[in-house]
Amino acid sequence: MTGNAIPLFTKRRTQYVIGKNLPVPEAQVEALIREAVRHAPSSFNSQSSRVVILFGAQHEKLWNITREALRPLTPPEAFAKTDAKMSSFAAGAGSVLFFEDQDVVKKLQQNFALYADKFPMFSEHSAGMAQYAVWTALADAGIGASLQHYSPVIDAQVASNWSIPDSWALRAQMPFGSNEAPFAEKSFMPDEERFKVFR
Ligand SMILES: Cc1cc2nc3c(=O)[nH]c(=O)nc-3n(C[C@H](O)[C@H](O)[C@H](O)COP(=O)(O)O)c2cc1C
Repeated sequence: MTGNAIPLFTKRRTQYVIGKNLPVPEAQVEALIREAVRHAPSSFNSQSSRVVILFGAQHEKLWNITREALRPLTPPEAFAKTDAKMSSFAAGAGSVLFFEDQDVVKKLQQNFALYADKFPMFSEHSAGMAQYAVWTALADAGIGASLQHYSPVIDAQVASNWSIPDSWALRAQMPFGSNEAPFAEKSFMPDEERFKVFR
């Protein structure tokens, strides 16, 4: 196979066991995230994705907020597992918060009436593109990450703690850090069930 994309794609995996020993300086991680999001495609080049990067104590605060938001929603006997999960995310070096700016979506709906009903979906697709780009860029730098979804239970606290504009809708959280364990096995469904090729 030619090119470097496939080896790079296979390098990106879900990593839950993360630590604080980043293989590159924080400034370089920040630059990677910025560039990955900048170059990710979006519908009509609307650039609807917004990102907040949290390092260190700010990142730990996110997972404490999430822990406390989940506490009243989780049966007491199940909370130990939730608590451990939050601690495992907090053990990392940072988190990326992914948002989609709903003002951008509304503006597109006004300007391109023909696609008005499609823009919310396109925005979600763009969010996925940005998330994948960041995840892959982090993996290429030797940084482990996973993709988490604790919206809407953390939305209000996230907004107030990090001065998030009202129009930014939280879509995903990506805790990252040093890879502290091998990746889990991954199974793949048969190609025959996924692909059709005609020539
Ligand atoms: C749209 C999407 C949503 C996901 N949501 C979560 C999630 O909420 N929590 C989680 O731990 N992993 C989540 N994942 C990670 C998947 O479980 C993971 O990517 C999948 O099992 C394949 O494993 P890999 O990432 O190692 O290739 C999500 C992945 C995608 C693409």
